[in-house]
Amino acid sequence: MKTPIRVAVTGAAGQIGYALLFRIASGAMFGPDQPVILQLIEAPVEKALKALEGVAMELDDCAFPLLKGVVQTSDPTVGFKDANWCLLVGAKPRGPGMERADLLKDNGRIFIGQGQIIDAVAAADARVAVVGNPANTNCMIAASQAKRLPADRFTAMVRLDQNRAQSQLALKAGVDLTAVKDIFIYGNHSPTMFPAFAHATINGQPATTVINDSAWLQGPFCETVGKRGAAIIAARGASSAASAANALVDHVRSLVTPGAIHSIAVKSHGHYGFDANVWAGMPVRTTTPGSYEVIPSYAMDDFAKSKIAATNKELVEERAAVVDLL
Ligand code: NAD
Ligand code: LMR
Repeated sequence: MKTPIRVAVTGAAGQIGYALLFRIASGAMFGPDQPVILQLIEAPVEKALKALEGVAMELDDCAFPLLKGVVQTSDPTVGFKDANWCLLVGAKPRGPGMERADLLKDNGRIFIGQGQIIDAVAAADARVAVVGNPANTNCMIAASQAKRLPADRFTAMVRLDQNRAQSQLALKAGVDLTAVKDIFIYGNHSPTMFPAFAHATINGQPATTVINDSAWLQGPFCETVGKRGAAIIAARGASSAASAANALVDHVRSLVTPGAIHSIAVKSHGHYGFDANVWAGMPVRTTTPGSYEVIPSYAMDDFAKSKIAATNKELVEERAAVVDLL
């Protein structure tokens, strides 16, 4: 039996938390032979902490063989203590008519304190994945507080966008989802994100040949993927939760699987023209569990370059808006 790993989850009693914790405890995130201890962190609010008690009861009631302990706390120094993975979900979601960047002032501050505490008390091998919106810039804020943990340990989630893009391409082409490969997300988790369809394949053929409709690919496809979160809010009256939790399972699972190629938002070192020090979605290859290298070599045509320039501009503007928090 492997030694249990400690997985801290903020916002554990929220919508995403409720769809996420049971997947982690079942082995979907770290594999069927990896025991876990869940360290559940909620805001110091009576209602949230009461709800967390109920979630912990349900985790007990699942009798998951891999679940070796559950910590419930509103104290991040307890919740992040010795954590190997810190999943930062806890933050306010947007409502109808809002953009994710509108959450920046409310949510950004959460990530200052959490970045500092993770840096002080988490395990030496700690990895951090940010989901709370605006995810890229919140991730940058958390990473900016760290002195001990290197910046490449802090990633933000664009996997939901990758999954959405894969699904839309499969629907358009009328093929099974698994026929679609190599669709990666560049830039911000916002409507400016760029799903780079020119590199995608469908049954081994270029997606652009199989679909053969550049107006659709450049227009409705990019727009549907970019605005899917808002469409779900409009339909459900609440932001995506199960699909977001599922994407976080995929994000971490790919990051612990050497050889996996997938989209994550990472600190930019200038690849693809992203400004240094913004956190931008791009394709990476997992090297060893928890570590990755950017795949720098996808060629971009003029359309792709203009989309990347637009999403980079937005990331730079978000950074300028929170410069006092860095
Ligand atoms: P929710 O309101 O249902 O739950 C959020 C939970 O976080 C609440 O229980 C709240 O008490 C808790 N919380 C707030 N501040 C906290 C803190 N400082 N420490 C610990 N817990 C805290 O929201 P949700 O639907 O679960 O969404 C959470 C976040 O994830 C939102 O910001 C949402 O926009 C974002 N999101 C991101 C993606 C993505 O793809 N990156 C997808 C979906 C949702
Ligand atoms: C999503 O993409 O579904 C989430 O980021 C929630 C939102 O506000 O769109």
